[in-house]
Amino acid sequence: MRIPFVAGNWKMHKTAAEAVSLVDALFPQLNTLHTIERVLCPPATALAQVHQVLKGSAIGLGAQNMYSEEAGAYTGEISPLMVKEFCRYVILGHSERRTLFGETDESVNRKTNAALAHDLIPIVCIGETLSENEAGQTANVIIRQVADGLKGIDARLASKIVIAYEPIWAIGTGKAATGQDANQVVARYIRPTLAGIFGSGAAQDIRVLYGGSVKADNATEFFNQPEIDGALVGGASLKAADFIGIAQAAAASQQ
Ligand code: PGA
Repeated sequence: MRIPFVAGNWKMHKTAAEAVSLVDALFPQLNTLHTIERVLCPPATALAQVHQVLKGSAIGLGAQNMYSEEAGAYTGEISPLMVKEFCRYVILGHSERRTLFGETDESVNRKTNAALAHDLIPIVCIGETLSENEAGQTANVIIRQVADGLKGIDARLASKIVIAYEPIWAIGTGKAATGQDANQVVARYIRPTLAGIFGSGAAQDIRVLYGGSVKADNATEFFNQPEIDGALVGGASLKAADFIGIAQAAAASQQ
């Protein structure tokens, strides 16, 4: 049984003070949803303060990125040790990091290994572009991103990994994939590749999320799919009512 997982990726939105206000608005209802894993990923500058607010609750905190080295001359980066001080989760390889900041499967692989070595739960993002999708390249891209991104990871750590399948054409566009199409990508390409790396038992334990224009009114379509275990939510995670609606849909899908 894979526990449903809903994470909010706030991207480059909210000062620390604004982040605390949003957490205050989310907290009462989000805190009651004990049957799902729920995680907030504010900007790095807000992590310390949000950590204080969430302390003692079961709502998880995640960073949106980190570097793979523990310390050193890496201006502007944050290390696994720094993330670990406040967070249990870290988003890695988001498509915006890949397209705008030059991240590759190789760098994602180093970061994923570093996250697991520091007992952080990596949320590893993968997904094809519109042109790759239209050229029939989805399978190749997805299989490569999973295989190269997760190279060298001990199968005993596999169950800690969370994968977010986010077709790039669906991110921030209001044009989500259909639940059925997303489910097929997981069933045909993602889960079999995970099975090839870690063995089929371990692959069954890995949560695979869908991301890309998830809203309160389409979330159930994804959560009802057998291979989709939750969502990574961007835009809709910035509005308390919308994110609570999505988290409630995830909790309801278990019943
Ligand atoms: P979106 O973003 O929900 O705004 O489409 C998803 C993401 O980038 O993780």
